[in-house]
Amino acid sequence: MAVERLDKIISKSGKFTRSEVKRLARNGEITLNGEAVKDVSVKADTENCIITVSGERIDTAEHVYIMLNKPQGVVSASEGRGDVTVVDILPDDMKRKNLFPAGRLDKDTTGFVLVTDDGDFAHRILSPKNHIKKTYIAALDKPIDESKKGVLESGIELKDGTVFRPAELEFIDGDMSNIKITIFEGKYHQIKRMFKAVGSTVVSLKRIKMGNVYLDDKLKEGCARYLTSAEIEEIEKR
Ligand code: URA
Repeated sequence: MAVERLDKIISKSGKFTRSEVKRLARNGEITLNGEAVKDVSVKADTENCIITVSGERIDTAEHVYIMLNKPQGVVSASEGRGDVTVVDILPDDMKRKNLFPAGRLDKDTTGFVLVTDDGDFAHRILSPKNHIKKTYIAALDKPIDESKKGVLESGIELKDGTVFRPAELEFIDGDMSNIKITIFEGKYHQIKRMFKAVGSTVVSLKRIKMGNVYLDDKLKEGCARYLTSAEIEEIEKR
């Protein structure tokens, strides 16, 4: 249970400042569990309360966890410096303060990006010690063979000393240039560099799974939905 002052809960939603909240309350625009509230220092349980401002329900969850199907051309960051970011393309009613992508996809990679405002969670799933597994579909310019597949499955060291730990690979419908690959770490341009090391170039890349959770196939590119609490747990499971 997280009990907090009403003005703090509402301002955390990112839509109103605390002084706006005070003014709205004076005008009778704020309700807590169906009752108008004038005194915003009153406390409420963020997990079990219904707050509205001017008739619209406020999202009171402490943190949010969003599954986004990232399109090409969008950057995995909260500040784009000229580029459109994964946070920019979220629907307005999902936007709140401090959202960021937990893990990055390249600008030209599509698929599952987890957007959250929970820094501890992001740290847990991305720290080198606990890094969750991630699965991608990679299309290659030219096929690899069984022996190159074996090299990537055993782990590989590049000339510059970078080591990629063993990955799991599967040819999709027997097509050796269309590969499902699962990695257990998250190095810079990892999949592209792994295939480059065995002589192929990745021509398209899509992330389809994080931890044990698949990208929802009903989610079109550019669309997002909240993860369920069961999915949030499954993301972290080994
Ligand atoms: N590996 C890559 O090369 N690019 C990505 O976006 C993700 C993994």
